[in-house]
Amino acid sequence: MTIQRRGNPKVPDANGIEKKIKRGNALRQASAWRVSRGSLLVVVVALAVVGTLTWLYLASGDPYTTETLVRQAEVIALTRVYTVDCSEDYENYKRYPGCTPKTCGRAVTDNSVTREEAMALRRLAERGLALAGSDGGASILDLHSGALSMGKQFVNIYRYFGEQITDVFSEEDFRLYREVRGRIQAVIAETFDLDPSLLYLTKPTFFSRINSTLAKTQHDEYWHPHIDKVTYGSFDYTSLLYLSDYGTDFTGGRFIFMDSNGNRTVEPRAGRVSFFSSGSENLHRVEQVSWGTRYAITVSFTCDPAHAISDPAMPITSV
Ligand SMILES: *[C@@H]1O[C@H](CO)[C@@H](O)[C@H](O)[C@H]1NC(C)=O
Ligand SMILES: *[C@@H]1O[C@H](CO)[C@@H](O)[C@H](O)[C@H]1NC(C)=O
Repeated sequence: MTIQRRGNPKVPDANGIEKKIKRGNALRQASAWRVSRGSLLVVVVALAVVGTLTWLYLASGDPYTTETLVRQAEVIALTRVYTVDCSEDYENYKRYPGCTPKTCGRAVTDNSVTREEAMALRRLAERGLALAGSDGGASILDLHSGALSMGKQFVNIYRYFGEQITDVFSEEDFRLYREVRGRIQAVIAETFDLDPSLLYLTKPTFFSRINSTLAKTQHDEYWHPHIDKVTYGSFDYTSLLYLSDYGTDFTGGRFIFMDSNGNRTVEPRAGRVSFFSSGSENLHRVEQVSWGTRYAITVSFTCDPAHAISDPAMPITSV
């Protein structure tokens, strides 16, 4: 009994110790959880960083490519403009107020030409290029001059095929071509704040078809870096209308602006118009096609009326 009596007052004590021990354990567990939560966060952040870097590396494909300006899957409804400082190239030529670039840059729109129009133009290109084509990987068809790649050289389709050409192209094809090039001229004028009537179509303006076949002549080597205004002094604005899709119709073949601080790419999309001022501020090249076939139209503009060319038209056939 005495033991019980002596023991009894000790009971709350024992309970107190037990509680203290339990409380201690609970606190230790909580802080252990806090510690592991902290390290978990570090691990999650590290994984995210590694994942993002890996994704960026894989997404870029070409390890030299630093930035994709526009992806194929995007739809650019409002013209997207990237301004760059103008080079001094334009100072070597007569200036045409309301046309000569004062603001330079690049822009992309998916809102000037529909996919249906791009598909119709691609069928036109396919029919024309089926008449001949280069032995190497790059063929062109110029409806203005009639130039068509054939083997290792070019022929004039209007002379070579004569009246037969009316079996290949229709009035409607030429009408669509004129309509589309007019819309490209309008979007260039609007974007660079020019008077559209002071901008003239110039040569060369042509359809291109490129694939991965080895080059046979230097005309097939489309991938070299170049400056349009250095190659063709009359150029002031260059545009490309894509007629096929990067990723589905072909791989490789992206357009690359080569800036001193990195490369910037545009992924082709059927109906997409990409345009830019033609000087050294827009040094560029086309990535080699690795698979499939890429169709596009290069439409070039000048401010100098002496270098203007007229729209192509169905050749007049004698009745
Ligand atoms: C590239 O195009 C040419 C001309 O149409 C064709 O003969 C060649 O087989 C094509 N090459 C590939 C790899 O598709
Ligand atoms: C841009 O790409 C070219 C190859 O196309 C490469 O030689 C060059 O180093 C790249 N520039 C930068 C800054 O990554």
